[in-house]
Amino acid sequence: MHAIWFLAFLPVFLIVLYIKPSPKKSIKGKHVVIIGGSSGIGRSTARVAAKTGAHVTIMARNKDKLEETKKYLNSQLRSNEQIITTVSVDVSNYEDLEKCLNDVELEIGPIYMLINCAGLAICGNVEDFSLQQIKQLVDINFLGSLYSVKAVVPKFKERQEGIIVLTGSQVSLMGMFGYSVYSSTKFALRGLAESLYMEVKPYNISVTLALPPDTDTPGFENENKTKPLETKLISEVGGLVDPDVVAERLMQDALTGKFFSYVGMESFILTTLCTGMSPFKRIIDVLVESALLGLLRIISAFYITSFESIIKKCKSEKEASNKEKSN
Ligand SMILES: NC(=O)c1ccc[n+]([C@@H]2O[C@H](COP(=O)([O-])OP(=O)(O)OC[C@H]3O[C@@H](n4cnc5c(N)ncnc54)[C@H](OP(=O)(O)O)[C@@H]3O)[C@@H](O)[C@H]2O)c1
Repeated sequence: MHAIWFLAFLPVFLIVLYIKPSPKKSIKGKHVVIIGGSSGIGRSTARVAAKTGAHVTIMARNKDKLEETKKYLNSQLRSNEQIITTVSVDVSNYEDLEKCLNDVELEIGPIYMLINCAGLAICGNVEDFSLQQIKQLVDINFLGSLYSVKAVVPKFKERQEGIIVLTGSQVSLMGMFGYSVYSSTKFALRGLAESLYMEVKPYNISVTLALPPDTDTPGFENENKTKPLETKLISEVGGLVDPDVVAERLMQDALTGKFFSYVGMESFILTTLCTGMSPFKRIIDVLVESALLGLLRIISAFYITSFESIIKKCKSEKEASNKEKSN
């Protein structure tokens, strides 16, 4: 009899355990630095930090965009003691970045949370990229993240506290037609984030890798200009998410120390499928992932087959149109 009750209540108990919120750190009165904070996901994240009561420093290159965002953030403050600071810097220049991070610590106070959202996407077939484009993507998306981490980690370790957020993408976990270069830089961030997680965990420092889906930002608008037809057809299935939704999730996950931050069911499926040797916070998450992995692998086979058929169809149509032109 006892065993029946136990078996009946076990699923309910596990569901309650799974959805139970984790303890959350506070950034009220703390210094939060957001690189790439003048636009898109970074700007929305800066808004969440400002509304939560943090002192917010936003860094990016364009001074006008920084000033415009500063005005916006000043209208979102929780108290008039909060300070919003702007710093113009190129994240791919290590010396400049390190100096700016040191200067802003002296001016505002110790950095408690570093969020790196600076990045860009250029799509295309691998052979069509110029070497300059490849270098730009590697410099900003990968080296910029590595540089920002290298600059803050010694101080975070000294103080035995800190939160680091890097911004990957869904293509940090899976390859996709048209994203050969971009996806490589975002895969690199997973390696960086997972290794860093192990290095800094004993110092009470957490690392979160954000994996936004297609998000309605100026950066996404630019990315669309370079997307091959195949990439457009494959990715239009997923829809477009508001940057405020991504930012709220990112902040929630980072403050509860979750390693991956994602939004939506498709991202849940992808992240669970690709969980591999990634760090975990709760045993219940590992149990849920283990239970779902086999089934999700089968679902992924349907996705892959449908992507491959889109690509094959585009190739046939291109060949037919070229043949028509040459006749
Ligand atoms: N939007 C999406 O659908 C999507 C999906 C997945 C992942 N992501 C990732 O999310 C991040 C933000 O994307 P977003 O769409 O919000 O882009 P966005 O609207 O273009 O914003 C990018 C921000 O980064 C700054 N930035 C770019 N290059 C920089 C550099 N060299 N040094 C310093 N700051 C720099 C930009 O300002 P300045 O140009 O003035 O420097 C801007 O503040 C990127 O890493 C992107 O790869 C975006």
